[in-house]
Amino acid sequence: MKTLWLFVCMWACAHALGRGDLEKYGPVRLKLSGLNKCDHNRSLNLDVSGINVHFYDFQKNDVKNFTIGNAAKGILGIKKLNKTKKFIIFVAGFTSNINDKTEEKVRQTFRNFPNSYLIILDHSPYTNDKEGYEKGYRRSVKYVHYIGKAVGQMLAGLSQGGIFPKNMHCIGFSLGGQILGHAGEMFINITRQKIWRITALDPAGPCFYNDFPALEIRSGLAQYVEVYHCNAGGFGTTSVLADIDFFVNRKGAFQPNCSTPPIPGIYSSITSNRCSHRACVDIWMASVSHPTWFLAKKCDKYRDFKNGNCSQNVSTIAGFWNPGNAAGKFYFSTKGYEY
Ligand SMILES: *[C@@H]1O[C@H](CO)[C@@H](O)[C@H](O)[C@H]1NC(C)=O
Ligand SMILES: *[C@@H]1O[C@H](CO)[C@@H](O)[C@H](O)[C@H]1NC(C)=O
Ligand SMILES: *[C@@H]1O[C@H](CO)[C@@H](O)[C@H](O)[C@H]1NC(C)=O
Ligand SMILES: *[C@@H]1O[C@H](CO)[C@@H](O)[C@H](O)[C@H]1NC(C)=O
Ligand SMILES: *[C@@H]1O[C@H](CO)[C@@H](O)[C@H](O)[C@H]1NC(C)=O
Ligand SMILES: *[C@@H]1O[C@H](CO)[C@@H](O)[C@H](O)[C@H]1NC(C)=O
Ligand SMILES: *[C@@H]1O[C@H](CO)[C@@H](O)[C@H](O)[C@H]1NC(C)=O
Repeated sequence: MKTLWLFVCMWACAHALGRGDLEKYGPVRLKLSGLNKCDHNRSLNLDVSGINVHFYDFQKNDVKNFTIGNAAKGILGIKKLNKTKKFIIFVAGFTSNINDKTEEKVRQTFRNFPNSYLIILDHSPYTNDKEGYEKGYRRSVKYVHYIGKAVGQMLAGLSQGGIFPKNMHCIGFSLGGQILGHAGEMFINITRQKIWRITALDPAGPCFYNDFPALEIRSGLAQYVEVYHCNAGGFGTTSVLADIDFFVNRKGAFQPNCSTPPIPGIYSSITSNRCSHRACVDIWMASVSHPTWFLAKKCDKYRDFKNGNCSQNVSTIAGFWNPGNAAGKFYFSTKGYEY
């Protein structure tokens, strides 16, 4: 009976609603819909001293790791550290760690990038799903402020040691994007200066946009804050709060090759949303070595962009080479590119 109902619904629903609607009301929504009213309390003084900071000097083939409390001192103590290089800082999301695919992609991307150091954070002691998916996510959200604060303190330490904020580029994926908001704020509180740029790749949605939008990653927390939306309304936020908000491919919500026919949006929903969410990292990282790939158009709505009604509007480069002089809502497509 249940199966029959499901089958009928699959057919009927699929005809009554668009694919996007199915994904909107499908299992992901159900799975994550319990995730409003999360704990964002800033008075818990949670200990995050177990965060690990990995420092990469690829030119010298040198890798070091420090606990976050010792990281600024440790990095500044590195022999012949060139403080005028660019410091690229990456913060990943929920259930990630230094040995994951995402972190490896980031290392591969910047391995041959000149005049820069790479720093990758591992906050996995506080953001894993060892206690289960939902419980783990709630716990991670509770830690966002404290992890962000610790990152901000570390960057302030680097700044006080002579590394210029204008050389700091922070990149965060998912929960990492939200963490960087707190890091940027803490950095301002301590130094009265701003980090050069925060790039938030599909900043986490659940527990944020439906709960505390005012506390999300937003403009003002760095000299320039850019957000890329790849799974808006699924794992990513729908909030438009940055200096520039890029909507990638279909509505900034669905990425190519991420649906699983023949019934997209029902059984495949979680896998498909996760695929779109993660594509944000792949797309942005691909832009590092392809400066001309992603030309974005300023546009109010996806429909207008798709119909070509925004083709005469202001454009800018999306991704690593974004010159940082445009603001507002922008759309781009990755059609024709392999990443
Ligand atoms: C936040 O945490 C503090 C310390 O545990 C507690 O006293 C306070 O009631 C909490 N605030 C909220 C809004 O839950
Ligand atoms: C971190 O550094 C220590 C030595 O200081 C090393 O033993 C350990 O393997 C390193 N951990 C990782 C994950 O690189
Ligand atoms: C330090 O880095 C800057 C920027 O990449 C470079 O121009 C300069 O030559 C470097 N200095 C040394 C001593 O290598
Ligand atoms: C920065 O300072 C403001 C004002 O004192 C405070 O409300 C905020 O919580 C601080 N931010 C962080 C990340 O500590
Ligand atoms: C998507 O799938 C098509 C057909 O298999 C393939 O040609 C294309 O490269 C894929 N695109 C991406 C971004 O993976
Ligand atoms: C883009 O161009 C269209 C058509 O000219 C116009 O209606 C719209 O207001 C423009 N949008 C932005 C954000 O500039
Ligand atoms: C979009 O462009 C098409 C033709 O290119 C035009 O017919 C339509 O009126 C435009 N829509 C808007 C909202 O400007």
